[in-house]
Amino acid sequence: MVSKSYVWLDGKMVLRDSAVFDVLTHSLQYGSGVFEGIRSYKTNEGVAVFRLKEHMERFLRSAKIYNMELGYSLEELEEGVISVIKKNQLSQSYIRPFAFYNDNKIGLDVTGKKISVVIAAVEFGSYFSGKDKGIKCIVSSWRRINSQILPVQAKASGNYLNSIIASSEAKARGADEAIMLSINGYVAEGPGENIFLVKDNELIVPSEESDILLGITRDAIIKIAQNKGIIVKERLVHREELYTADELFFAGTAAEITPITYVDNKKIGSGHVGPFTKMLSDTYSEVVSGKNREFDWITLL
Ligand SMILES: Cc1ncc(COP(=O)(O)O)c(C=O)c1O
Repeated sequence: MVSKSYVWLDGKMVLRDSAVFDVLTHSLQYGSGVFEGIRSYKTNEGVAVFRLKEHMERFLRSAKIYNMELGYSLEELEEGVISVIKKNQLSQSYIRPFAFYNDNKIGLDVTGKKISVVIAAVEFGSYFSGKDKGIKCIVSSWRRINSQILPVQAKASGNYLNSIIASSEAKARGADEAIMLSINGYVAEGPGENIFLVKDNELIVPSEESDILLGITRDAIIKIAQNKGIIVKERLVHREELYTADELFFAGTAAEITPITYVDNKKIGSGHVGPFTKMLSDTYSEVVSGKNREFDWITLL
């Protein structure tokens, strides 16, 4: 890691300290940005980014949904991510591409407003301190947004107010994280993570109609599990199935695989990290660190 941090801003590498924006910036005031969250890992062949293309494709899709013309190709954005990791000499990092209205005129109208793209990255460890032994969750009283209200498939800043209010409720109630239900009462996802259940040796994951973000880690876990011959069912999941699952875990770029051992103060399975969760988590670690090359998912710098 270098002492000064650099970011990629509108195609140029600049000191992070010098990337300064007006307090009235539209996206700061109204949450009108789109972003990504990506990780890089150490491998035996050097640093590698996990599923870079898929993340940057989703970034462009999020922008498209909001009619934001970023002005960069997929390849230029991928190169931007790589150059930020290299310039900052990072290894195990979290990378945050962010596109926003860099305009300070009061008013909601975004017509003709300047859009900036910034890519920042920091060294990053576990998102949850209880990642290895399991975390405690509550079912939030706040429902997950859905596409009748805001496009859930756009990873947009404003969506995260819904996440933050649920997560804050969880902390206030003494839990580590929230699980959100969809407006129809089915299990949706965590504030920044998809959820998986293990029941009778099968893997169950809330389907697209549960108003979830279709996570890239979720997709990776489904494919890893299927490759191991595990039956994976994508379907609607009732709240009470959380309590009677044999195992539960979150999956996401930040959370990686995080076991959930309690929900609403009820013990899940044995109350310890279960064998499926452990096996999938170990395989995921091998895949992201390039030890397992069953999938073509890593981009070496
Ligand atoms: C709401 C939400 N769900 C799920 C996820 C997991 O997605 P991914 O695995 O692509 O990081 C994230 C994180 O990006 C998220 O913010």
